[in-house]
Amino acid sequence: MSLLEIRNLSVKVGDKQILKNINLSVDKGETHVLMGPNGAGKSTLGNAIMGNENYEITGGEIIYKGENIVGESVTNRAKKGIFLSFQNPIEVPGITLSNFIRNAKDEVTGTKNRIWGFRKELEAKMKLLNMDKSYADRDLNVGFSGGEKKKSEILQMLMLNPALAILDETDSGLDVDAVRTVSEGVRDFQEHGEGALLIITHSTRILDALKVDKTHVLVDGTIVKSGDSSLVAEINEGGFEKYL
Ligand SMILES: Nc1ncnc2c1ncn2[C@@H]1O[C@H](COP(=O)(O)OP(=O)(O)OP(=O)(O)O)[C@@H](O)[C@H]1O
Ligand SMILES: [Mg+2]
Repeated sequence: MSLLEIRNLSVKVGDKQILKNINLSVDKGETHVLMGPNGAGKSTLGNAIMGNENYEITGGEIIYKGENIVGESVTNRAKKGIFLSFQNPIEVPGITLSNFIRNAKDEVTGTKNRIWGFRKELEAKMKLLNMDKSYADRDLNVGFSGGEKKKSEILQMLMLNPALAILDETDSGLDVDAVRTVSEGVRDFQEHGEGALLIITHSTRILDALKVDKTHVLVDGTIVKSGDSSLVAEINEGGFEKYL
């Protein structure tokens, strides 16, 4: 049984039909890459899987761990192990990065995470991501640079250890060193658990250090091609032109 099986999924945003009959199957521990031109519907797919209410499911099913989760709240989906890192992380004044992640972890695990153990783990993951530990006590993303916000998303992923992580352009806007660091963080996730990944990206540098099982090309709301990791190189060479 697949971890995630999307069957004939169609999604509308406002009055616009964005996704049309998407089929996608992701197994436990697999890494899938989703590429496609701007506006193709990649973030829409991520949001639909996470359950964002602005995205209306007009047809099809999202089967996760054997059950159709269409209609379930974002919170329930998070508790079931789905994580989405945002393309544009928001600033949240009034709650520190550390408290935000601890609350989310308490919610997802259904237990109170003891502060000292939590803090130790948090600082270890921050070190891995080359983040100064002082950022843990700053308000979530407030005044963080673009790249720091992206790292804070990956930190959340590493701490929550989801069964399915969707990374929406986590590598965009990162400098060369930061891409490598984030890529190492993602590799840590790949190597130390059974979590599956759906990586949405334009640049492929983040993939250099990662094992990729499948690649999909989304154009105008439809998956026009799926293949193995060699498809990434092919897109890099020839762009999306032949799929338009
Ligand atoms: N809230 C909204 N209202 C109206 N249109 C929307 C809304 N959200 C998304 N869209 C439209 O849906 C289409 C798909 O958007 P989406 O963000 O999924 O694209 P994307 O593939 O992630 O693109 P990019 O590579 O630029 O991030 C776009 O044409 C976008 O304008
Ligand atoms: Mg997008």
